[in-house]
Amino acid sequence: MNTKDVRALFLEYFANKGHKIYDSMPLVPDDPTLLFTNAGMVQFKDIFTGRIPIPTPNIATSAQTCIRAGGKHNDLENVGYTARHHTLFEMLGNFSFGAYFKKEAIAYAWEFVTEVLGFDKKVLYVTVHENDTEAYELWSAHIDASRIKKMGDKDNFWQMGDVGPCGPCSEIFVDQGEENFNGPEDYFGGDGDRFLEIWNLVFMQFERDKEGNLKPLPKPSIDTGMGLERVVALLEGKRSNFDSSLFMPLIAKVEEITKQTYVYESGASFRVIADHARSVAFLLAQGVNFDKEGRGYVLRRILRRAIRHGYLLGLRAPFVYEVVGRVCENMGAHYQYLLEKQQTIMTQCKAEEVRFFETIENGMNLFNKELEKLKQEKANQLFSGEVAFRLYDTYGFPLDLTQDMLRENGFGVDMDSFEICMKAQKEQAKANWKGSGDSAKEGDFKILLSEFGQNEFVGYEKMESQSRILALLDSNLQRTEAIKAGEMGFVMLDITPFYPESGGPVGDKGILKHNQEIIAEVIDTKKYFGLNISQVQAIGNLRIQEGVFAVVDSARLEIAKHHSATHLLHKALREVLGEHIAQAGSLVESNRLRFDFSHPSALSPEELERIEQNVNAQILSANAQVCEQMELQKAKAKGAIALFGEKYGKEVRVVSFGDSVELCGGIHVPNTAYIGSFYIIKESGVSSGVRRIEAVCGKAAYEWGKTALLSVESAKESLKAQNLLQGIEKLKEQVRELKSKANKSTSNLKEAESESIQGVKLIVSELKDIEASEAKKLVDNAKNENEKVAVLLLTTESQKDKIVITAGVKGIDLKAGLWVKEIAQILGGNGGGRDDFATAGGKDKAKIPQALQAAKEIAKKAIG
Ligand code: ALA
Repeated sequence: MNTKDVRALFLEYFANKGHKIYDSMPLVPDDPTLLFTNAGMVQFKDIFTGRIPIPTPNIATSAQTCIRAGGKHNDLENVGYTARHHTLFEMLGNFSFGAYFKKEAIAYAWEFVTEVLGFDKKVLYVTVHENDTEAYELWSAHIDASRIKKMGDKDNFWQMGDVGPCGPCSEIFVDQGEENFNGPEDYFGGDGDRFLEIWNLVFMQFERDKEGNLKPLPKPSIDTGMGLERVVALLEGKRSNFDSSLFMPLIAKVEEITKQTYVYESGASFRVIADHARSVAFLLAQGVNFDKEGRGYVLRRILRRAIRHGYLLGLRAPFVYEVVGRVCENMGAHYQYLLEKQQTIMTQCKAEEVRFFETIENGMNLFNKELEKLKQEKANQLFSGEVAFRLYDTYGFPLDLTQDMLRENGFGVDMDSFEICMKAQKEQAKANWKGSGDSAKEGDFKILLSEFGQNEFVGYEKMESQSRILALLDSNLQRTEAIKAGEMGFVMLDITPFYPESGGPVGDKGILKHNQEIIAEVIDTKKYFGLNISQVQAIGNLRIQEGVFAVVDSARLEIAKHHSATHLLHKALREVLGEHIAQAGSLVESNRLRFDFSHPSALSPEELERIEQNVNAQILSANAQVCEQMELQKAKAKGAIALFGEKYGKEVRVVSFGDSVELCGGIHVPNTAYIGSFYIIKESGVSSGVRRIEAVCGKAAYEWGKTALLSVESAKESLKAQNLLQGIEKLKEQVRELKSKANKSTSNLKEAESESIQGVKLIVSELKDIEASEAKKLVDNAKNENEKVAVLLLTTESQKDKIVITAGVKGIDLKAGLWVKEIAQILGGNGGGRDDFATAGGKDKAKIPQALQAAKEIAKKAIG
């Protein structure tokens, strides 16, 4: 019996008993109190607590992927070191929402374990909560009393998290035999693996609130969870989950990469990698990205822990991604999306691995140095908190990774000093963070909410409204009756056309008028505790209860264009790059938009071109805006792109333009044609796996295009060319000519007549086609290259009827100044200079041969 069989048998067994089969819900739950979905009951939590109505049928079953790598249920540090802990596992469960209770739950479980799976009753044990006599009696009908163990709250009271549904529970154990497990912890209730819990039946009766109080649930319910990996291993006759057909292919992959053979006794690193690759694969496939905080940080920690174990095995380059690929292949038959996204998530994983491999070596060195110190000190048992912080901050070692490495050596981290470093860094970051602004403070906003309730927003249809001032807050966020001219403050109108900042789009600006006079400028609009509030700079006096005429700035239309273009861009990205694209951030202003999204690598020019074309095609199709209210389920069925965290059951606003369908509460153009045109102006990386596109449309696109054209025009002008490309060609041609001239002049000197007399180099020559400045360089070169030299060059400058004489002397008794003077006189000119270098001019070109002759003779005389 393999995984597929066990999973199918379970669901089939409960379906036959009238249970509805539910799909596995996402690993990221729609629930801020949970880090990850950590049990099968999570998707039914609101049913248990009575927040949503009990469905029909009122009994359910599922095979749920769960992650326990943080929060209340955290198995991370055990993984690899026991036979049975995992970060990601599948939980088989049956659920009753006030239908059956303990009796049936126990009977079903017993029948399934003994009859369907065929476990020998002689290896089974059960536990009950010490106060649960009812469960004890019920079990007595199935199993000998000596095999029913009573346990306390620690073992037999289950709760989802710090808050949420909970209740006493009862567990089924398999005894794997003393002959296989005889360690000191292998007694019933010990930490050893001999007595293996396979199924937990929770008798859901309470909900724990934030204060820790237990409140009875509307109806006593049932929540059970059986560990699929454990059952499969037992049925395959393996002593460890890692030896089963679920994990061996992954371990084999690690063997292949490391070229080492896996041995159970020393194979913890193999097991950690195999386990963690599963979590990495599922989380990436479900859209969680590596991040500095939250769920993305847990994902990063899991990956880095796997990398470090690869490092222990001698690996020095990315490898986890290959194991992740194997996970996709192995589990893709049941979890189709793993296969669909295999390439993308392997690339994402590898990119993240590259980053950690850049720092791991230095980090390990720092860690080992500190560890050595610690071992020598003996007295001190704590690893320096500052070093742990440096490992975290500079080398990317998550704290629990450092703790993990220390645990292997029996040490812990000095958490006090670690926390101090962390706090100092946070404060520094806070001090550097500009713009926390007033929104961080509560002020009197909350009071307004209880006094007036929410005010009405009429801006979807209107750019203006006749309104009344309900309340005013001064710049210190305190209630006030009036704001005087020149002061800043906040206005709450009864009905307002100003759109409040939310998600991407910035808040509306505008003016308030009273008796035709402008009395205030609206500089921003935001939501405070659900209220729509505008921040104002008063020009006249504002008083509560006064009527005002509110006018939204015309920039609103440009904001709307960029907002609608953002939707079209989102759609284009999914079409060109794939369905994995998820929005990671957005900014929409009147003159630009910025859109961040998950994607593993930089976009190529061709991809950008296709995306830009796609958006422009959508604009040119002149798709009208369709805006509808509907149930979330319906919106999703329609293909609406929804951000994570939308609540079920709620009505949502869906904005569509053609095939672009998104959940959105913002303001849009009536038709895509309004957007005009769209240009991508930049693509860049934000963080690992997140890219950013900046773009313009509407008026800003026109301006951007116009500026580009103008620069072409002025380039043409400065090139004096009708056509820019021709102008550039001409310029290139000139550069080529100048270069070849320069080359020629250097070779000119080589070709120049020269002779050696008594170790002195004598160069006297006429050089055509070169500038006087070039001649000076040639003279300098000659002096640099020779110990003793006398050089005199005649150059005829182009266009001018002039001869330039340039001379240099080194190591002989000849004064350059006098030399050029004599030659200049022959050429009908004049000049002079220093002893080692001099220039002069002449004009009689006919005398050049005579001048050259004379120059040589003067030099030869000086040399002797
Ligand atoms: N919710 C119970 C558990 O996770 C079944 O153990």
